[in-house]
Amino acid sequence: MQRKPIFAANWKMNKGPSETEDFGKSFLPKVQHKTFPSDIVIAPPYVSLAKASELFGNVSSVALAAQNCSQFDSGAYTGEVSPMMLKEFYVHYVILGHSERRSIYGETDEVINAKVLKAREVNLRPIFCIGETLEEREGGKLEEVLRRQVTVGLKDVTEKDLIDTVIAYEPVWAIGTGVTASAEQAQEAHAFVRSLIGEQFGADAAARIRIQYGGSVKPGNAAELMACTDIDGALIGGASLEPSSFLSIIENGT
Ligand code: G3P
Repeated sequence: MQRKPIFAANWKMNKGPSETEDFGKSFLPKVQHKTFPSDIVIAPPYVSLAKASELFGNVSSVALAAQNCSQFDSGAYTGEVSPMMLKEFYVHYVILGHSERRSIYGETDEVINAKVLKAREVNLRPIFCIGETLEEREGGKLEEVLRRQVTVGLKDVTEKDLIDTVIAYEPVWAIGTGVTASAEQAQEAHAFVRSLIGEQFGADAAARIRIQYGGSVKPGNAAELMACTDIDGALIGGASLEPSSFLSIIENGT
């Protein structure tokens, strides 16, 4: 099955509104009034979503994502942002379960599952992140970890919801390290994740779902990674902060 690649820029805690404006001034002329064979997504920090919506809201080739959201609708959750609030911006996607949310903020598979389900209630498209640590990989626990993350993280997700869900496989040891998984390592993990989706949701769902690779994707390695059968785009951190670098990855990887 032909799957449309999807390239997402995860800016993490970078680029407030003024830097988002600067990025837009450089990126917009490269993407405005153009069509791409891939989906392009930008995930700024919450405080820059208004500016990003102003810049990209009417650019058909670019969608916006939040980097997280609450599993609750509203209430006494200081510092949190509900999925419904995100709908007031041009936000279509939401990154959930990023390894930094798991390791730094202690998000469990169960909490991430609750966030996925809540996001789907308001028709946001999860970019659902999974991935193993170096210790888990070297300990032979790759498949055990991915199976747990997928099984628990996508519990009670309907097949219809899954159509709008993207998985991002991000080996933790490749995130921000400059050490990218080899194409063979990435393809092996992606094929296994796709088989897990087949077990949980059926062959059609497995063939249809898009699985991004994330972890030190650069313009120089994008083509080899994206040539892999089960890799359907990338979730990019550092290399997405510069417009030219982000666009090069998209162009090289498509
Ligand atoms: O979510 C994408 C991110 O974790 C990857 O970061 O800097 O290795 O591309 P980076």
